[in-house]
Amino acid sequence: MGNKINVLMVCLGNICRSPMAEAVFQDLINQAGLSDQFQIDSAGTARYHVGEPAHIGTRQTLAQHGITYMGKARQVTASELSAVDYIMAMDSENLSDLKALTRDRTIKERIHLLLEFAPSRSNKDVPDPYYTGNFENVYQIVKDGCAGLLKHILAL
Ligand code: 4NP
Repeated sequence: MGNKINVLMVCLGNICRSPMAEAVFQDLINQAGLSDQFQIDSAGTARYHVGEPAHIGTRQTLAQHGITYMGKARQVTASELSAVDYIMAMDSENLSDLKALTRDRTIKERIHLLLEFAPSRSNKDVPDPYYTGNFENVYQIVKDGCAGLLKHILAL
């Protein structure tokens, strides 16, 4: 796990929701002056979009909020999980797919739904804008989750 707090945002394709969460969390960390203490990344459970930039809707919405995102989609690997402190699933399907990658209980305990940390959100799944087209809504939801996650980590 190293010195830095390692956070991995995970969705299905790694082009819509998890890049949004990665970029928003990185932005919060930068604003808080904590960038040297965190290592933040994202990945997808599926491989359909590996190598592609984030969805134009994700990039445009981030840009509207002053955030540039340059990441490329990749698929999560079982072996990388042992080095991650917070493995954050965007929805319950991502959560179960991630848990199926490992039999290690200590790793399973590090896998959470992002919106577990957003008490104001009753629906704990981040809606998939690949289907809804509503990227601004996803930005707002993910921002709540990221703010809650940061608050949780800083309170430890
Ligand atoms: P994401 O959205 O998991 O938020 O990146 C999706 C991206 C691609 C697909 C589904 C969801 N797809 O079926 O290709």
